[in-house]
Amino acid sequence: MQQTVNVVGIGGSNRPRSTAEQALRVALAEAARRGAAVRVVTGPELAMPLYGAAGSETSPQARRLLAAVADADGIILASPAYHGGVSGLVKNALDHIEELREDTRPYFSGRAVGCVSVAQGWQGAVSTLSALRDVTHALRGWPTPLGVAMNTAASGFSPEGQCQDPRVQEQLETVGAQVVEFATLRALSTAGAVAGDRGV
Ligand SMILES: Cc1cc2nc3c(=O)[nH]c(=O)nc-3n(C[C@H](O)[C@H](O)[C@H](O)COP(=O)(O)O)c2cc1C
Repeated sequence: MQQTVNVVGIGGSNRPRSTAEQALRVALAEAARRGAAVRVVTGPELAMPLYGAAGSETSPQARRLLAAVADADGIILASPAYHGGVSGLVKNALDHIEELREDTRPYFSGRAVGCVSVAQGWQGAVSTLSALRDVTHALRGWPTPLGVAMNTAASGFSPEGQCQDPRVQEQLETVGAQVVEFATLRALSTAGAVAGDRGV
């Protein structure tokens, strides 16, 4: 029996319809097209107190983020390049994942993580993509084979949210597809292991 997998997208910036958010939504739309239940944590939802400050982990934004990640079978991260790395807004949200260290699936364990960076040049796009994949490893997630480094000086998005460069559009969709593929395989193997335990 096919199980519905949950995919959460995290990223963007404070700017409404930021390019990082639009890139994230393209990848999520493909995940949804492939049957995943998707949700997105972006914009003001990411604006939470600095992690480590008193009570930061219990802010409403942090609680919503942590619940969404704990519930997720797959994750997609998208960040603009800020001075060669992940933006403070996105990194602070990711720092909050520390609160899931004792979860049944600690941090990002067992989850495929698609990573997307946007920048106004290749250097920042590539270094930020690499940083997101390093964070994913540190959080025990499985970076998808394909990540996307998007140069917004070369292409942007149409008013309908379609990437103007069809190759980048396809890459973003592939990331969404790979997250769902891994999540589905994991769900099937976990269900098989449980059935095996019961001698079914
Ligand atoms: C504070 C700040 C730092 C930035 N640093 C870089 C950078 O190091 N390299 C780069 O290519 N673009 C840099 N940019 C440009 C953004 O990465 C780029 O405009 C991105 O597309 C904006 O993403 P957004 O639309 O999701 O906000 C920077 C922008 C800001 C505001």
